[in-house]
Amino acid sequence: MTQVMTGIENICNICMLNKVNLTMDTNDGKLHDMRADYVAGDFTEQNAYPSPMQQFALWFEEATQNGIQEANALVLSTVDAAGKPSSRVVLLKEFTDAGFIFFTNYNSRKGKEIAQNPYACMNFWWGSMERQIRINGKLEKIAGADSDTYFYSRPIGSQVGAMISPQSEVISSREWLEQKFIEQQLKGEIKRPENWGGYILIPETFEFWQGRTNRLHDRLHYTKQASGQWEISRLAP
Ligand SMILES: Cc1cc2nc3c(=O)[nH]c(=O)nc-3n(C[C@H](O)[C@H](O)[C@H](O)COP(=O)(O)O)c2cc1C
Repeated sequence: MTQVMTGIENICNICMLNKVNLTMDTNDGKLHDMRADYVAGDFTEQNAYPSPMQQFALWFEEATQNGIQEANALVLSTVDAAGKPSSRVVLLKEFTDAGFIFFTNYNSRKGKEIAQNPYACMNFWWGSMERQIRINGKLEKIAGADSDTYFYSRPIGSQVGAMISPQSEVISSREWLEQKFIEQQLKGEIKRPENWGGYILIPETFEFWQGRTNRLHDRLHYTKQASGQWEISRLAP
């Protein structure tokens, strides 16, 4: 049953902000002034790898070495049968020359959308490095044995959580979820559900974006040619 919220706690328990009197006008002008000039570096044709996978590997390594929190977090966009998009954050768990792998519930909203339209987009934003990467491609489920390998490598709590959560469905309460978790722990059987596993995004295009001053950003776009080679073009910022 969907619950109607009747009130809110006054103080945010994460940031201690007093929520009383917050309105849509609270930002009044602040958003207009919220901006950064991008000066961290440049990205030119001369220092771009011919292979976008190598370029990704380099930027990913640099992101982790620069201490970006969860550099493997990406926004995944999918589209439903009516052409309406939706986005959410997932964690990249592997990348190879073949593509980019993440794990999820195949019956979730995203899973249902992917079943109807396998084309998707991944977006990474590494703010302190002023870098964005966009990858478009086609999703495929990975082999069950490979999903098993990852599933059983996760902490037990995450395995149990994946088993009991009907991801994206309406549930009656927080208590219902916690009760399911406890019941599953008591049963003691741990098995990867058939509807939980990995997808691989097989890339078709990449865009590497490096912020520059005066909004004259560097944008290098890679497109896969029929020959298998990648063509690089520069896009206007
Ligand atoms: C940092 C972060 C990492 C996440 N990683 C995953 C993930 O790897 N897999 C996943 O299914 N959901 C992950 N989520 C939750 C998703 O954002 C999303 O709520 C969930 O997958 C349901 O999405 P859907 O209803 O669009 O299918 C993550 C959320 C955040 C904020």
